Amino acid sequence: MNISGEIESKYSSTVSLEHRKKYAQFFTPVEIADIMTEWLLGNDTLSDVLEPAFGLGIFSRILLSKKSNLSITGYDVDNAIYEEALRVFNGFRSVNLKLEDYVKNDNNWNEEYDGIICNPPYFKFHNYDNKSVVSKVNQKLNIKLKFHTNLYVLFLLKSINQLKKNGRCAFIIPSEFLNSDYGVNVKKYLIQSSKLRHIIVFNFKENIFDDALTTSAIILCANDEFADTIAFSYINDVSQLKKIKQIIFSYPNNTYSDFTYNSKDIHAELKWKNYYSPTDVPQFKNLVPFATYAKVMRGIATGANEYFSFNLSKVKSSGIDMINMQPCICHSIDVAGLCFTSEDFDNLVNSNKNVYILNPINKQDENLNIYINKGEEKKINERYLTSKRIPWYSMEKRASSPIWVNVFNRNGLRFVRNETQVMNLTTFHCIYVNNNLFGVDADLLFAYLISNTAQILFSICGREYGNGLNKFEPNDLNKSFMLDIGSLNEIKKDKLRTIYRQNKKNNDLSYINEIDSILIDNFYEKAAPSIE
Ligand SMILES: C[S@@+](CC[C@H](N)C(=O)[O-])C[C@H]1O[C@@H](n2cnc3c(N)ncnc32)[C@H](O)[C@@H]1O
Repeated sequence: MNISGEIESKYSSTVSLEHRKKYAQFFTPVEIADIMTEWLLGNDTLSDVLEPAFGLGIFSRILLSKKSNLSITGYDVDNAIYEEALRVFNGFRSVNLKLEDYVKNDNNWNEEYDGIICNPPYFKFHNYDNKSVVSKVNQKLNIKLKFHTNLYVLFLLKSINQLKKNGRCAFIIPSEFLNSDYGVNVKKYLIQSSKLRHIIVFNFKENIFDDALTTSAIILCANDEFADTIAFSYINDVSQLKKIKQIIFSYPNNTYSDFTYNSKDIHAELKWKNYYSPTDVPQFKNLVPFATYAKVMRGIATGANEYFSFNLSKVKSSGIDMINMQPCICHSIDVAGLCFTSEDFDNLVNSNKNVYILNPINKQDENLNIYINKGEEKKINERYLTSKRIPWYSMEKRASSPIWVNVFNRNGLRFVRNETQVMNLTTFHCIYVNNNLFGVDADLLFAYLISNTAQILFSICGREYGNGLNKFEPNDLNKSFMLDIGSLNEIKKDKLRTIYRQNKKNNDLSYINEIDSILIDNFYEKAAPSIE
């Protein structure tokens, strides 16, 4: 099998440029095709392979030279190249070539493959019946791609959907969709599919294709269990191509990637340049320290939670007067959802959760005194924190805070709007709002905090402290940066509050995207400098 580019060169010299342009017949350089085949071969059970934009089958030729027992299906719409490909693959019974439009074909959606590899056609001007093809893909994948979505991403999304378990797909496509408006829904689908693993963006000074396509990206997907992270790498020189092999060979470790993110930190609404640009900082304007609008403090530390915390049964059996009980969340796990109301508190009381702490006010209460004596018998008064208090059983004096933030949370920071006067132990940090400065009240601040944008900014600040999101201390948050939401006009501030208020008990969190849209519209530098 000839794995040099001679076959393509010969074809290009005999067929007119006009014909090649009509079908977008620009061939993948052998070095790049070779690297991409390694991704597929990383699947040990690689057997059925699809090449949806076959051309002269450079990928399949290389694959067969490395693993001969593959069964290959190829599609192409152009009769001239199809005939030539039949000649090239003459004698290869396991290669099945079809003279058909891959995306328009309705019958192949359920066919699945161990490996899909492709350099799809790229038409700059839409001389293609996009509308009907986009509708078809939307309907099949239940998504909402815009009608001007470029054909090459339709190839990609359809293929991702055709991967068998452990199947892998490698595409080389223009990188434009990563940062364009129509790309948002494409990126959404890539994230939702849980199959995106690595994007390697090229920005070569010289042309790597025999036409003006210099900015492209290799997209590596896999239908395996390693969906927790998405990696990005950036290459601007042909000499760095070997880095891609290192990336592929070290999978699922991201040892050689430039930037690796937790998948949940990747947001379709943002230009993905933010994730691979060497500066690594989203282009947001008007950042202020978090402490401008709020102060974060740790929750109440009792020094002996098992002694000081009570559920309703314990209150009743101790006989202590309710006046000596302070409503208080002892375990963050008891708080579900984004907003905590009095009704939620009553439900916790009725399900006998620990939602009170001892706060002695009426010292005449005999049962209280009995309980205090018991505490001394158990030497609770000699513990580190209690021994420093006078009297040892007194509680920290604090106002309840209108916003809580989860201290240890693997899924990023979790904020809760506390609409009650209930206090909290150290299971949450307290967020107190600074005097409604520039109209930033608890609801407005909260609407901001639950946005994806806020999470990104916190995660970047977290990385700077070398601390990671999981261990955010109050001061890490105080020192973080946030968007200057006080600078929004009153209409937008109200809009943000309203989005939160109308959805606070909504389990479908898609309304958060509306908040992000407002933030992105107002704070995202559209004229971000190019990464060149
Ligand atoms: C960019 S070339 C890639 C060829 C080859 N796979 C390579 O990498 O060198 C795209 C190929 O897709 C074919 N093509 C264009 N539209 C197509 C479609 N709708 N379905 C299948 N193939 C198509 C073109 O004729 C062309 O051969």
